[in-house]
Amino acid sequence: MKCGLIIATVGFLAITNVTLGLDNGLARKPPMGWMSWERFRCITDCDKYPDECISEQLFKRMADLMVSEGYRDAGYDYVNIDDCWLSMNRDDNGKLVADPTRFPNGMKHLADYIHSKGLKFGMYQDIGTKTCAGYPGMKDYFEIDAQTFAEWDVDFIKIDGCYADEIQMVNDYVLFGELMNKTGRPMLYSCSWPVYQEYNGIIPNYEILKKTCNMWRNWGDIEDSHSSVETITRYFSDNQERIQPHSGPGHWNDPDTLVLGNYGLSYEQSKSQLAVWTVLAAPLLLSNDLATVTPEIRGLLLNKEIIAVNQDALGIQGLLVKTINKIEIWKRPILPRVKDELTQAIAFVSRRADGAPYAVRVKLIDDLGLSNKTYINGYKVIDLFDVTRKPFFVRMDGHFETRINPTGANFYKFVPKLNIILRGVTDTDY
Ligand code: GLA
Repeated sequence: MKCGLIIATVGFLAITNVTLGLDNGLARKPPMGWMSWERFRCITDCDKYPDECISEQLFKRMADLMVSEGYRDAGYDYVNIDDCWLSMNRDDNGKLVADPTRFPNGMKHLADYIHSKGLKFGMYQDIGTKTCAGYPGMKDYFEIDAQTFAEWDVDFIKIDGCYADEIQMVNDYVLFGELMNKTGRPMLYSCSWPVYQEYNGIIPNYEILKKTCNMWRNWGDIEDSHSSVETITRYFSDNQERIQPHSGPGHWNDPDTLVLGNYGLSYEQSKSQLAVWTVLAAPLLLSNDLATVTPEIRGLLLNKEIIAVNQDALGIQGLLVKTINKIEIWKRPILPRVKDELTQAIAFVSRRADGAPYAVRVKLIDDLGLSNKTYINGYKVIDLFDVTRKPFFVRMDGHFETRINPTGANFYKFVPKLNIILRGVTDTDY
């Protein structure tokens, strides 16, 4: 699928008369929140599935749970509607209309409710003639739709790319972004054009992308399985040299939603998705039923240390740096910086399913690429999944050993330490 990639310059030439520039000041850190698609898809039969259908009730229920279960206070603050919220027809003025049965009070009412909970409100539309599920798209209605979203007090807008030409869509995304900016309401802009271009063998123009969108879907839809998580992860490692440099504060690569808390991932596999998404500086948008998330998965999602790594102010997307016997080592530089050395978040991600936890023993310099040579003799290591967070120390010339459960991940923070040889675990500056 990827052979014969062509650069999407055609689109670029065609839009040079449009002002580029995303100046909404949003998404300085990877956005966090909740989004309906993966878990609730396009369930519209509220008689049969009253707790699951895409409806005002569902989003109110999720907003309530975001607060009562502690997600909002941990930083998850967007509540986003995905596809299937629309009526099949616009009104007489060409304005979008929410399905009147499922959203009887309209979208402004729902926005007000979500805002009253201290949360932000996200919506979905499509740059083409229809949404992916077949509801009316935005083509030919960009201005009125941007205005409508602003009137409804929307804070986040995901624009999909079904039923649109994958070259022409770039101009349209840029234009819609301009029109959103013109409304005066800052709305986080999530774009999907890279995935449509990549699927058609076109390399997206990242310069336009990051000036236009706050985040963008790079690859296909996540599903409720570890193999789906692995497929997306593999896209990110296979293409990391090309895509990694373009992610950063204000503009993020998006591997799609977190599916922890659903049916498909074991506890170990949940750790794996969370660790990889955190290293990737990915948006953390949950797609699950917050009412049925088990306490142990909730514990993972609310892990403060891991969230802090994801939200690190440098906003550097991490990389797969080495694979040893099917254990992938993913590394992301984060703050604090000690002298010239940054802290590193390092995930050991197992692609092994052969049974029994598997131990790897690595050298700090040769295998992990840690280079704390000048001032320092070692690193303080914190196991991010260990809630006791008892640090331990490794010397620069030493080894680090960790044992990863099948299909799981271990995740550590390596903080450079000045002038230590082995200080033991009495360190108090953690
Ligand atoms: C596409 C997107 C998904 C979701 C659906 C909705 O497949 O990639 O994330 O928005 O459309 O129909």
